[in-house]
Amino acid sequence: MIHFKWWQKAVFYQIYPRSFADGNGDGIGDFKGMIEKLDYLKDLGVDALWLSPHFPSPLFDCGYDISDYENVAPEYGTLDDFRTFLDGAHARGLRVILDLVLNHTSDEHRWFLESKTSRVNPKADWYIWVDTPPNNWQSCFDGPAWAYSPERRQYYYHYFMKQQPDLNWHNPDVHKAMWGAARFWLDMGVDGFRLDAIGTIYEDPKLTPHAVPMDLAGLRQFSDIAKTPAERALVEQYWLEMFQYQLGQPGIHELMKEMRSVLDEYDSDRILVGEDDDVTYQGNGEDELSMVFNFPLMRTDLITPEWVRKNQQERIAALGKISPGAWACNTLGNHDCGRIYTRYSASQAGGNGNHAAELARLNLAVVLTLQGTPFLYNGEEIGMTDYLIPDPNLLRDRMATWYYDHLVNEFKVAPSQAALRAAAMSRDKNRTPLQWCNAPNGGFCPQKVTPWLPVNPNYAEGINVQDQEKDPASLLNFYRRMLQVRKGNPTLVVGDYQPVHEQVEEYLAFMRSSPPRTVLVVLNYSEKHIAAEFTDLGFQSARTVYATNDSSTQSLAKIDLEPFGIWIAELS
Ligand code: GLC
Repeated sequence: MIHFKWWQKAVFYQIYPRSFADGNGDGIGDFKGMIEKLDYLKDLGVDALWLSPHFPSPLFDCGYDISDYENVAPEYGTLDDFRTFLDGAHARGLRVILDLVLNHTSDEHRWFLESKTSRVNPKADWYIWVDTPPNNWQSCFDGPAWAYSPERRQYYYHYFMKQQPDLNWHNPDVHKAMWGAARFWLDMGVDGFRLDAIGTIYEDPKLTPHAVPMDLAGLRQFSDIAKTPAERALVEQYWLEMFQYQLGQPGIHELMKEMRSVLDEYDSDRILVGEDDDVTYQGNGEDELSMVFNFPLMRTDLITPEWVRKNQQERIAALGKISPGAWACNTLGNHDCGRIYTRYSASQAGGNGNHAAELARLNLAVVLTLQGTPFLYNGEEIGMTDYLIPDPNLLRDRMATWYYDHLVNEFKVAPSQAALRAAAMSRDKNRTPLQWCNAPNGGFCPQKVTPWLPVNPNYAEGINVQDQEKDPASLLNFYRRMLQVRKGNPTLVVGDYQPVHEQVEEYLAFMRSSPPRTVLVVLNYSEKHIAAEFTDLGFQSARTVYATNDSSTQSLAKIDLEPFGIWIAELS
């Protein structure tokens, strides 16, 4: 029998520490808050937590600009608080992985502060320095990728903000220092890392310029106004072309192998999850990353049966080429993209009618029943929605404020219009504080305190944990139930995936099987009532494991599914 690893069976839950729970009432999430919510997470039914960066940071990229890899940001607590959190999680059977940013540090990290002092100091080559910008490369956040350092009278390279200088991974000392930081946390007992932006670690050694006829600001502006399919296609092509020499360059596989060998020094199967969708970074299934995210699944305006089938066909084929055991990892949302509830609501995507609530359920069901490890993002369990912050002074995402400045100053867009566009592209909209109850500030922090990002006022409309805990029909209770369904049916975890009725547009149906068991999942993505027959699958009977329509008796000869209904059944 194949032995499945803890992370293959687990459901992960991403915590965005700044917005999750504020234990000391200063308007910023912290470890005290996270510790207080461990029981909530355990009761929800998830098995592992991924923490977005909790390290000291000047916050030019909301913590993804780390100034000390071996500490805790003071506003989140102390190393002791971290230990209490980790022990508390482990005591409840919850694993914890951290976010490790390899590509860059903060420009306030002592490595960079030393590197920029002169061209001859011991860390002079820890970053990527040049005398003059060698090409037209752009940063994906703030314009030209080469920034001038007056101290050193040279330019350094940054793929993200200029406050995030790229490390020079051709320097063995950088490897040693970063693996030291990784061991610091592994020694403490963390279960692995989510590796940030691994595709950006190396650059084209020939420094080939891109050929897109505009710079980053121009491309963002073009992306905003492009409407026709041809324009949209051109936008996509330009994004790819603009960064093609700065992404996915040779060297990453070797580096992932090296990182893997650091983790393999430890017992109990520590893991690496890459922020990339290229499955080849899973190496031979053992020697690089444990998983990469199935980002293609979420790159759509609307999740449809056809979309999921196509995605699964492609991903499973790609993983199969790596090794028979290469493992998938499915998600629909994280801290970098709009909230699932808003993004995939049919009305928003121009679909038929307004079915956000139903689609939120179907979209959870799909992520929890497809083959692979699911990742959920904090707040989605109560249906948190995007909250547009149309006051640029309140935005914390510098990528958006940078864009706002360019819209106003370079493109002469009226400030009120620019504010709306910056709010819409900002990632702040999906990072607002978690809504714990129907009280001022959604119960995240005391009324008199200003939270670090405004709380979405829809906490007063039932989008909060406390109200939903009391309501058996709430989205939160649906999450709990579905997580139990998955846990109670190992076939949904380990079974292989076989699509059925592939021509049908209205519903998505697939079997998960791990002999001798087979489970059938049917998800009605339409507004129509559906009566479907599944006698063609070669099974005699079906035992309902979960059905939205509890009252009906289902049989393979006739399955009644109400609009947006779900049916999960064990076949025999
Ligand atoms: C990753 C993170 C994102 C961050 C970027 C730079 O994509 O998910 O939030 O801004 O890396 O570190």
